[in-house]
Amino acid sequence: ANNTQGLEGFPKYRVANIKQLQSSSCPVYFFAYPLVDEPCFLVDFSKLNGMNNVEFKNPYANQFRINTNFKDIVGVGPKNSICAFSAVCVHLGCQLPAQALVPSPNDPGLNPSTSVLHCPCHGSMYQLDQGGVVVGGPAPRPLPMVLLEYDETTGDIYAVGTNAPYFSEAVPRRRPVDNLIYDPRYSYSVPSNPACVRV
Ligand code: FES
Repeated sequence: ANNTQGLEGFPKYRVANIKQLQSSSCPVYFFAYPLVDEPCFLVDFSKLNGMNNVEFKNPYANQFRINTNFKDIVGVGPKNSICAFSAVCVHLGCQLPAQALVPSPNDPGLNPSTSVLHCPCHGSMYQLDQGGVVVGGPAPRPLPMVLLEYDETTGDIYAVGTNAPYFSEAVPRRRPVDNLIYDPRYSYSVPSNPACVRV
């Protein structure tokens, strides 16, 4: 899938190989992007709730100049089922426990049956299978997505950009605090893989 229309200025990093994902029962795989202290995670929706050929409306489409030609986000991999998100809550910057698979939508962590990721700090809830849109709590914007490319000859998965308005030069910055996707007072760590903890 070509998810890079209209994007420029992001590095292209290899973040995983499909064999690493296929060898684990965990639907979540952590990596850092675009900087080494910015945790993100791949989620394989075919493992999370059986979704193949995933396609989301980009929650930021048409809001910012950089995304004008970029309306949808398409899953990658053999089943077009793999997408990637930031692991940093857009409310006040807590690290999201995507590795914690929980039985209830009300528990902090990722509920496998609803695809809702729940922040432990103030209760923001993101619906991952709708592009990270906010379905609860104080988060003011959707969870940023990392845009991926898949090389089917090698199985390598690359991060090539993000849809986050924080990274867009076209974002109005009258109140700069509104545009933070992470709080620099926090430090983050990227969990080692395999990542799933069942609670
Ligand atoms: Fe996540 Fe406040 S930091 S809800």
